[in-house]
Amino acid sequence: MGWFTMHYYCRNLLVLTLALTGAAAVAQGPAYQRGRNATEEEIRAWDISIGPDGKELPPGSGTATEGAQIYAQKCAACHGKTGAEIHPAKLTHMGGAPGPLVGGVGTLSSSKPVKTVGSFWPYATILWDYIRRGMPEFRPGTLTVNEVYALTAFLLFQNGIIKEKDVMDANSLPKVQMPNRDGFVPPKPEWKPGMKRPLGYYP
Ligand code: HEC
Repeated sequence: MGWFTMHYYCRNLLVLTLALTGAAAVAQGPAYQRGRNATEEEIRAWDISIGPDGKELPPGSGTATEGAQIYAQKCAACHGKTGAEIHPAKLTHMGGAPGPLVGGVGTLSSSKPVKTVGSFWPYATILWDYIRRGMPEFRPGTLTVNEVYALTAFLLFQNGIIKEKDVMDANSLPKVQMPNRDGFVPPKPEWKPGMKRPLGYYP
């Protein structure tokens, strides 16, 4: 589906949704008089967040060696062969153009910071979450749990953070130490409205 087709498809969908809103009023929930409460099962299906400590990570595993093949098939077209490439120009019409996923360590405090998974991201677990939640673009949700572990391992390996044969699973992934783990300004819970904010602190 091309960009224009997609654009108009979405618009038509919006019009259709608005037209159907009247019908939805039949099934009203108690609090807002709209829709109905989500079932436990529906909430579970949406609740896929993986926090920094990775305690929500599901069983499964993968290595960079396995990830390399999946990456070549499902990711390289947009992210380049090694992940260090700048996106191909043809992607710019899609709105969000991905920056490199690999490299850039040590550049953050320079005048040309290169923010990648390796140079910028503080936790390996959120890489797992991001890949499962959002990639491949336009086909999110199509990767198996083992594929996500393998792709995470591949990108960590490409960034020189783990070894090629290291097995990533619910136990090992949270233990991976990211280079920029301590590079963020910590949250300041003691801040109260009206107090002056420290430089670089924007909640
Ligand atoms: C059709 C093109 C496309 C494909 C295929 C694709 N991506 Fe992406 N990817 C993107 C775009 C565009 C972004 C930037 C999204 C944004 O910033 O909103 C992105 C962002 C990312 C990021 C976050 C980068 C950052 O630093 O913010 C990761 C990690 C990633 N992709 C991994 C993958 C993996 C792994 C695959 C293969 C399973 C994949 N992508 C397949 C287009 C693609």
